[in-house]
Amino acid sequence: MEAVLTREEAVVRPDGDQRKTLDVTLKSITSLAENINAFEFVSLDGNALPAFSAGSHVDVHLPGATIRQYSLCNSPNERHRYVVAVLRDPAGRGGSVAMHDTLRAGQKIVISPPRNHFALAEPARKHLFIAGGIGITPIMAMLAQVQRRGEVFHLYYCARTPERAAFLDRLTPLVEKGLVSLHFDEGDPKKGLDLASTLAKQGEGTHLYYCGPGPFMDAIEAASAHWLASTRHCERFSASGAVAPSSPVDGRAGDTPFDVELRRSGKRCTVQPGESIIEVLRAHDVAVDTSCCEGYCGTCMTRYLAGEPLHRDTVLDDEDREEFVMICCSRSKSPTLVLDL
Ligand code: FES
Repeated sequence: MEAVLTREEAVVRPDGDQRKTLDVTLKSITSLAENINAFEFVSLDGNALPAFSAGSHVDVHLPGATIRQYSLCNSPNERHRYVVAVLRDPAGRGGSVAMHDTLRAGQKIVISPPRNHFALAEPARKHLFIAGGIGITPIMAMLAQVQRRGEVFHLYYCARTPERAAFLDRLTPLVEKGLVSLHFDEGDPKKGLDLASTLAKQGEGTHLYYCGPGPFMDAIEAASAHWLASTRHCERFSASGAVAPSSPVDGRAGDTPFDVELRRSGKRCTVQPGESIIEVLRAHDVAVDTSCCEGYCGTCMTRYLAGEPLHRDTVLDDEDREEFVMICCSRSKSPTLVLDL
């Protein structure tokens, strides 16, 4: 039997979905590495949780109406628990500090059901994973999946020191089998993974997956630019300096005003340069659900019905972009963008 999603706590999504939330118990908090804790969630009633696929994440609702996304790192084969690993980052936006400093085992927590913007490719002749720091979390679920299926893979895991690397107990046996390579740079980029040579050749049928801090992601994106777009898969947990402005209100040279029409409510409003669609909607009393506000978490995904968005997110692929737009960071190329709100 599956755990029951709580209707009364459903979050109304800007794309009109009733995104149901899930009450869970934080069963345990375990130290994995320096400043990295694992948080294990189980259902309140002991029933199975909704199934998830490798690469999925959940929204965790924290005190103060803060919502943060964390990748599931346990095996998708497990139905009795969700596990996320979180690096406490005092320089972050507060979510990881709240996770570490305010949550206690035994607490009831509200999360979202899992959703996936970082799925494994099927079929793939080989899976090539590159993880930087806490970016190892979705990759751990992927490793469990490809190992269970008996598929070919190799993981490069980069961290500053072994003390800052999570999951070494599970990865060390795979290092001995030649399936995982560990790179500890001790803060010296010259000792890091040679991305250019690692990614120089694109083996036919090989899919690349990468996750880590922003500069690490930008470096891999550049080093794999010659790969087919359809073979590169990534998940960001911070905005790319190359893709998104540091804040939606920063704007960019050349941004022009445009109108947003809300098809269902009949509202119409104008978004000026330096404003985000979300800010304008909120000013017109339209409730929207956001988290990162920088185009990498997927929370504000909204269906559009007419017009041509100017996409500035790092989540949607080309196919998704034909239907959806991230309204925290994207704008419109056409004079009017019609949203399904
Ligand atoms: S709020 Fe994160 S992508 Fe828009």
